[in-house]
Amino acid sequence: MTEDRITLKRPDDWHLHLRDGAMMEGVLPHSANHFARAIIMPNLVPPVVTGADAIRYRDRILGALPEGAVFEPLMTLYLTQETDPADVRNAAESGLVKAVKLYPAGATTNSASGVHNFDGVRAVFETMAEIGLPLCVHGEVTRPEVDIFDREAIFIDEVLDPIRRATPGLRVVMEHITTSEAAAYASEGGSDLAATITVQHLMLDRNDMLVGGIRPHFYCLPILKRGTHRPALIKAATGGNPSFFLGTDSAPHATDTKENACGCAGCFTAPVALSCLAEVFDEAGALDRLEGFVSLNGPKYYGLPVNHEQITLERGAPIQFPEAIETDAGAVTVFNPDRPVHWRVL
Ligand code: DOR
Ligand code: ZN
Repeated sequence: MTEDRITLKRPDDWHLHLRDGAMMEGVLPHSANHFARAIIMPNLVPPVVTGADAIRYRDRILGALPEGAVFEPLMTLYLTQETDPADVRNAAESGLVKAVKLYPAGATTNSASGVHNFDGVRAVFETMAEIGLPLCVHGEVTRPEVDIFDREAIFIDEVLDPIRRATPGLRVVMEHITTSEAAAYASEGGSDLAATITVQHLMLDRNDMLVGGIRPHFYCLPILKRGTHRPALIKAATGGNPSFFLGTDSAPHATDTKENACGCAGCFTAPVALSCLAEVFDEAGALDRLEGFVSLNGPKYYGLPVNHEQITLERGAPIQFPEAIETDAGAVTVFNPDRPVHWRVL
């Protein structure tokens, strides 16, 4: 490794929205370009609820891969009030499904079928604890009176901690953490608890989204927080604790549905995620820890092998961000943090 070049084991993305149909065909190559595997979010319409749904969705993803691309979709099931623990067990034991996703009902995009009574899904949690299947959690309370900026911190105390205490051995991934409270909780949770962090939450805060005009392409859920939280996230990502790893939450929406009077939540970061992360780690003086965050910690938590292949990034003049990608479901604006990023993937 020289100063301006860094070679890593090929990364994985532990939280990715690929969608379906024409949108999936358009965005999938951008993940397959850089990532060997990804945990695929199940919030389609209708959602991916059963093992049979996951088989069909996996086959559609594999069928949409460009010729020669090597990419393994790691499937998840969308937890509903009706989820059958036996189906979860079968889907996990067959190797098909790598996690179950918990969306509190109403928390985010396509979460209407999510969970509103956490006690009512206890049997699923118990089966998951028994077989070691991780629960990926969108950690936000949805009570309308709770301020959107407080929803994550309150979820930890009101929902997540009680679930973990009631179900010892349940393996949990706190998805896309955005607050110092979540970083602190995840760092003290032992080997059953992990957290993913996105590119946008490492690079931006709510001022970037709201000062000097509203930036719809920075709007995602959980929403960008007060700037004081960002250093805690950077410290978590770059600090070498194996409980933290990359989940981009790359979430494509057609540009016109984001630049809209009621815009959709989600940042499409897949094409530029690694460049942006290298910049963040470089600024933190922690380039030597980038591989842990993007390539080693995730497989370790999920009990999967590290990838054999490698990827190299090079530092040079600021990269040109593509403005958008074209898909048959419309153009999708590519995340651009609006500051120089010097690392490109070779
Ligand atoms: O910003 C987000 N977009 N957050 C989510 O939790 C869901 C995602 C999406 O599916 O668009
Ligand atoms: Zn997501």
